[in-house]
Amino acid sequence: MGVNIRGRHFLKLLDYTPEEIRYLLDLSKEFKNMKRNGVPHRYLEGKNIVLLFEKTSTRTRCAFEVAGRDLGMGVTYLDPSGSQMGKKESIEDTARVLGRMFDGIEFRGFSQKVVEDLAKYAGVPVWNGLTDDYHPTQVLADFLTIRENFGHLKGIRLVYVGDGRNNVANSLMIGAAKMGMHFVVGSPKELFPDPALVAECEQIAKDCESGATITVTDDPKAAVKGADAIYTDVWASMGEEAKAAERKALLQPYQVNRELIEATGNDDVIFLHCLPAVKGNEVTEDVFESRHARQFDEAENRMHTIKAVMVASIGNF
Ligand code: CP
Ligand code: NVA
Repeated sequence: MGVNIRGRHFLKLLDYTPEEIRYLLDLSKEFKNMKRNGVPHRYLEGKNIVLLFEKTSTRTRCAFEVAGRDLGMGVTYLDPSGSQMGKKESIEDTARVLGRMFDGIEFRGFSQKVVEDLAKYAGVPVWNGLTDDYHPTQVLADFLTIRENFGHLKGIRLVYVGDGRNNVANSLMIGAAKMGMHFVVGSPKELFPDPALVAECEQIAKDCESGATITVTDDPKAAVKGADAIYTDVWASMGEEAKAAERKALLQPYQVNRELIEATGNDDVIFLHCLPAVKGNEVTEDVFESRHARQFDEAENRMHTIKAVMVASIGNF
């Protein structure tokens, strides 16, 4: 059956089937080819989008802005102090106003409930550009990068080391469960993923018969053994700055350094990071600059994958 995402929100990967995720990745590849070959793709000419940011961003903002312009759209950016939302005006009212003017709304912020509420009231597609719980557009870019390196996702051993319960780790685990990957989390017990989400992902793997497995361990070397890809992220996410020192002590054994790369036993392992990175914390400078590193491919792929999400949800075809 054909995939039709028209009119849909993109709030978390839990809402998408493996076929829909595959479709978005295929479409992303087409946009990447067009961009690389200088083929115009103004498929959303005349439409307008708004980008609402409660937290800071380089990649997500720029990816939405350039993607929007390449697709022929008008793009409005509202920074944390630039709107009435959450201060003089409720989320519900903000959503209803923006939905009258824009064809799509991107939101980055703290609470997943806010993006879900925007989606409830806007009447136009809402895209999650990161919340405390999830970062779904990031994972599309990560999976496109993995596919570019290995040709497929199924059966790939993706090892995430670091803060095992942050937004990126959560979204990777969901995506991996859907796409039949072997997902391993290596993190201290205090930062293990939410057991309820692990159970949900295991159920997803069973229901979709994807063949995915989820493993959680506090042993970093055991975690990375046999990895095709090692992924890490900052030790203290946006909003957790006060915990930075405590996390640094706790997460030191999970740093992605030369020794951890060697512990994979795979000379061709690739290194992934959503960025921005704190070099010297979660990854060493030498690994970041090594032949294993693919983080800038991932960053570029944010733009191609975001185009796919926007065209699939607000395009006229
Ligand atoms: N990876 C990512 O979301 O980067 P930004 O915080 O710069 O948007
Ligand atoms: N986990 C990080 C991701 C940044 C893209 C954060 O939320 O700050």
